[in-house]
Amino acid sequence: MRIALGSDHAGVELKARVVKALDDRHLDYHDFGPSTGSPVDYPDYAARVAERVASGEFDQGILICGTGVGMAIAANKIPGIRAAHVVDRDGARLSREHNDANVLTLGARTTSVEQALDMVDAFLTTPFGGGRHQRRVDKIMALEGGRSVPTTRTVSPVQDVDPQR
Ligand code: RB5
Repeated sequence: MRIALGSDHAGVELKARVVKALDDRHLDYHDFGPSTGSPVDYPDYAARVAERVASGEFDQGILICGTGVGMAIAANKIPGIRAAHVVDRDGARLSREHNDANVLTLGARTTSVEQALDMVDAFLTTPFGGGRHQRRVDKIMALEGGRSVPTTRTVSPVQDVDPQR
């Protein structure tokens, strides 16, 4: 698995901790910058990472800014990207299992290092669940082309609120 990393100035320190965690696990990654805390614009780095994930050059991306929100908004503008801003391990796991997310975004100013590393671990180790989730991801990707897909109702409204679904 090849991982593309990027941040803005707010995310540089947390990114260094993520890099160390990836090194400890002998994972293959490339840091697309920046390397200092001088102010930069997060969309520039979101694009660098997201374009390489979308092209298939990298399998997963991790983007870090102050909140993780700007990175998610920017990365999701790149066709083929499903960037997930998550705030806990369960969110990271489910973003892979249910949404086949290919970019994780983290908020350096809104999460602890321990939480962030836990989210990275869940994101990188959880496979996509497929099945009913594949149908839904297909619909997301159809939206990207400006099309929507007719709703397929496969569960009752009561079951719809079941978080397991
Ligand atoms: C930079 O100050 C901040 O706006 C950025 O890191 C991020 O939080 C944007 O979403």
